[in-house]
Amino acid sequence: MTDAPVVRPLTPDDAEAVLAAFCSAPDMARQGAVTTPQEAERYVDRLTDADGPHRAWAVDDRGTCVGLVAVTIDAVNANGWFWYWVHAAHRGRGLARRAATAVADWALSDGGLHRLELGHRVNNPASGAVARAAGFVREGTEREKFLVDGRRVDVATYGRLRTDPVPDTERLVRAGWAAT
Ligand SMILES: CC(C)(COP(=O)(O)OP(=O)(O)OC[C@H]1O[C@@H](n2cnc3c(N)ncnc32)[C@H](O)[C@@H]1OP(=O)(O)O)[C@@H](O)C(=O)NCCC(=O)NCCS
Repeated sequence: MTDAPVVRPLTPDDAEAVLAAFCSAPDMARQGAVTTPQEAERYVDRLTDADGPHRAWAVDDRGTCVGLVAVTIDAVNANGWFWYWVHAAHRGRGLARRAATAVADWALSDGGLHRLELGHRVNNPASGAVARAAGFVREGTEREKFLVDGRRVDVATYGRLRTDPVPDTERLVRAGWAAT
C-alpha cells in the first residue's frame, strides 16, 4: 500500500470532491458550470455514463479526487479530445503532467484511439506545459478564438498520435480500465 497519487476511473462518489475543485479557483468556471451539489452530480453522471463519449480519470490523492483527465471520444475517427483540470490547492505538484501522460498512454493503447487532440488559451501556459510533457505536439493556432473579459484570445492546438514518440515523463500509476 502506498500513499502515492494514482489515476483511476471517476465514480459518482466523486461528486463532492468535484464541487470542491470547481469552487477552488475562478479559472475552473471555464471547465463547466458546477456551483451546487446537484450540478456536480449531473457533471459526474455525464462523465461516468459508460454509453456516453467520455472516459474520465480521477487524479486520486489518498482517496480524494483532486483532479481530472478526460478523453471525449470520436469513435468514427478513433480520435479523442483530451482535457484536464486540478483543484487549485493541488497545483504545482506535477499531478496534471504525470496524470495526463498516463491517461494519454492508455487512450492510445488499451483505449483504442489513434489520435488525441487538445487546445488551450495561449494565456494559460501551464496547460501547454502539461500537453508537451504528455507527448503532444504543437499543431497550430486558432486565432482570436475566445472572447475572455472583453479580449479575443488565441488558442494553441496540439495532437499526439499513436505513432508519435512516447515521452519520458514520469507517470502516475493507472488503477482500473486495464491497469498497467
Ligand atoms: C493547467 C492545470 C491542469 C495544471 O495543473 P498542475 O497540476 O498545476 O500542473 P503540473 O504541476 O503538472 O505542472 C505542469 C507544468 O506547468 C508549468 N507551469 C505552471 N504554471 C505555469 C505558468 N504560469 N507558466 C508556465 N508554466 C507553468 C509547471 O512548471 C509544470 O511544468 P514542468 O512540468 O516543466 O515543471 C491547472 O492549472 C488547472 O487545472 N487549471 C485550470 C483548468 C485548465 O486550465 N485546464 C486546462 C484547460 S486547456
